[in-house]
Amino acid sequence: MIPQAPHAMLPVTNHDEAARQLFTTAMRHEVTVNMFAGNRQVFERRVEPAFEKAQGRKPKTRHEVRRALEQDPYIQYSSALRLLYQEILWDSVGDSIDRQLPQLVERAKKIARSRTKGSLTLDPTITIPRYLNAVDIHMMPGNYDREWTADDVFAGAIYDRGVYLRSIGNRGQYGEDYGTSFAAHVRDQYPDLKVRRVLEMGCAAGGSAVGLAQGFPKAEVHAIDVAAPMLRYAHARAESIGVPVHFAQANAERTSFPDGHFDAIFGFALLHETSSTALPKILKEVHRLLSPGGVALFREQPAYSRVSLLQAAETDWDTYYNAEPFYGRLFDMDRAQIFVDAGFRRDDVLDVPVMSVAHQRGNPRAPKSFGGFGARKQGGR
Ligand SMILES: C[S@@+](CC[C@H](N)C(=O)[O-])C[C@H]1O[C@@H](n2cnc3c(N)ncnc32)[C@H](O)[C@@H]1O
Repeated sequence: MIPQAPHAMLPVTNHDEAARQLFTTAMRHEVTVNMFAGNRQVFERRVEPAFEKAQGRKPKTRHEVRRALEQDPYIQYSSALRLLYQEILWDSVGDSIDRQLPQLVERAKKIARSRTKGSLTLDPTITIPRYLNAVDIHMMPGNYDREWTADDVFAGAIYDRGVYLRSIGNRGQYGEDYGTSFAAHVRDQYPDLKVRRVLEMGCAAGGSAVGLAQGFPKAEVHAIDVAAPMLRYAHARAESIGVPVHFAQANAERTSFPDGHFDAIFGFALLHETSSTALPKILKEVHRLLSPGGVALFREQPAYSRVSLLQAAETDWDTYYNAEPFYGRLFDMDRAQIFVDAGFRRDDVLDVPVMSVAHQRGNPRAPKSFGGFGARKQGGR
């Protein structure tokens, strides 16, 4: 695994912490690559024939496939390991951050007080939506918004390090690859679009916001999140890397930015963590915030209609076992219709592969491309 690039906010691991963290990474590889490879065989040789024998037909939905898979000891074993992996990942990172949290908090405060390239605007009156704090999403203790201490940055630190380990470094050394890749896509595909202001919704610890700032060096880059500990960390992190990003605490369902303020709006792994009520509001807000001719693109896993029932059932594991309650519902949705409902023209809806910059630069872990879906606003062309 390519080492995570150092920056002022990255928690430092001692020997034992590093050993535990590397173990979790190796375990993830074993479970999600090696053991997962057996799922298809188990399904085709045991699970589907047993289903057919009992029902007189093949399974018709991913729910039938999932329920049938759950009866098989191989799947039970790999699922239990997957769950265990997820728990020890956060444990291994959280323990390390606990040890140095006071120093990280002070460092973030010091950076925020210094002459910065970007900015940090917090809103203590914000209400955290229920879909974000009813469960600890993907089992991350305290979720995105929990404040364990004053001026906390714990959530940002655990997310930054934990996601790097979980993705086995496939999002770039600064976790920037979604940002750099989607920026490159927009620059290449829309040469007519003058990108003056960019917004990332749901920026978390700021990895992809750094990538957007690198990918649009002349634009003003803004990044919002509802969670203060994420934003404090993200801001100090971006400053220490040396890229200007304006971070603000805001709910993507309704922000205070003026109409038509942004030429490009992005969300990476944001939408699947919202809800059936919030999602249409967020997309309407995207439509309001885009300038004429502006482009919005979101990164999520492929819709279930695009993959086999087995793949859909495997992806749906997160809905049922990884505290991602909205996962399955988002992937069931008609991705064109949700943008049409938000005010975009059907002809302007986008569903495109976005090539990974990290992959092109030779990161062996990075996928070749990401699924991007979104829409371009009418006018200005
Ligand atoms: C999976 S993380 C996003 C990761 C990040 N985009 C990246 O690429 O590293 C989802 C983030 O979206 C934020 N979020 C979810 N719903 C939101 C909303 N309605 N408004 C603002 N932020 C939201 C969460 O607080 C969380 O930090």
